[in-house]
Amino acid sequence: MIKLTVKDIADRKALGKKITMLTAYDVSISRLLDASGIDIILVGDSLAMVALGYDSTVPITMDEMLHHARAVSRGNSNALLVGDMPFGSYQINTTQALENGTRFLKEACCDAIKLEGGTEVCDTVGHLVKAGIPVMGHIGLTPQTAGQLGGFKIQGKDLESARRLLADARALEAAGAFSIVLECVPGQLAEIITASIGVPTIGIGAGPSCDGQVLVTNDLLGLFEKFTPSFVKQYVNLAPQIKGALEDFKNQVKDGTFPSDQHTFDSSENLKTLLEEDTSSK
Ligand code: KIV
Repeated sequence: MIKLTVKDIADRKALGKKITMLTAYDVSISRLLDASGIDIILVGDSLAMVALGYDSTVPITMDEMLHHARAVSRGNSNALLVGDMPFGSYQINTTQALENGTRFLKEACCDAIKLEGGTEVCDTVGHLVKAGIPVMGHIGLTPQTAGQLGGFKIQGKDLESARRLLADARALEAAGAFSIVLECVPGQLAEIITASIGVPTIGIGAGPSCDGQVLVTNDLLGLFEKFTPSFVKQYVNLAPQIKGALEDFKNQVKDGTFPSDQHTFDSSENLKTLLEEDTSSK
C-alpha cells in the first residue's frame, strides 16, 4: 500500500468514497489501525481523558501530545497521521501556532494537524496552511471549550447556531482547511454543511451524511469504561475480556498452574542434579 496524502483525502469527496478516521495514542493500536486500512490516524487530545486520566482535554501539553504522536508514528506506514493541537498551543498568536504545528511535523512525523474552532481560528489556519502545514478543522462540540458551549452537548440545534456553524465551515474551507470534523451536530445540519463545502466533512455524532466518520478507538473497543457517549457504536467490549484474563493470570500464579512446563525453559544438561552434587561435595 502507498501512504495516503492530504490530497487523497480531499479527493475522496469528489469520488464519493467514505473516509475512515480513528484515534491512536500508542504504537500497538497504531499498528492495528494501519493494518486494518484505516485512512487517517488521529493522535487526538482525547488522549488526555482516555489514556492519561485527566478529567478533560484542557490540561494536556504539547510535550505530552508529541511523546504519544512519536509512538503512533512508529507504528504507522500507510494512514495519514494527524496530530491534534492541544488547548493553549495555538490560541496565543500565529507565531505560537506555527511553532507548535511545525513540531508535530518535524518531531513526530505527522502529515497534518487538527485544531478546534470556527471563524475565530481562520486567520491562524490561513497562516499554518501558507507555511505548508495541512490543517483539519473541528467545529460543533469542541471539547477544549465545552464549558463555554454549556457542556458536552449537541450543537447547532436552533437556526441561529446552525447558521453560525455553516458559516464556520465555509470560513475554514476558505482559510485552506483540507477537511473538517463535525462533532455532535444534528444529522440534517451535517448534511447541509457537507453539501455546501468542497472539502470533506468527518463526522462524530453527526449522522451518516458526512464524507467520513471518526470515533475514539478506546470507545469503539470498549476500553474506556468511565462513560460512553450515545453516538458511539461499541464494536467489541474488551474491558470484561481483559479483566477475565487478568483474573485468570492472578489465580493461576496463586494455585501454581502458571508457569507450566510449556512456559519454562529447559536446559541441555540435568542442571538440577549437577548443582546438587556441587553443593553436597563442598
Ligand atoms: O481528540 C479527539 O479524539 C478528537 C476526535 C474525537 C475527533 O478530536
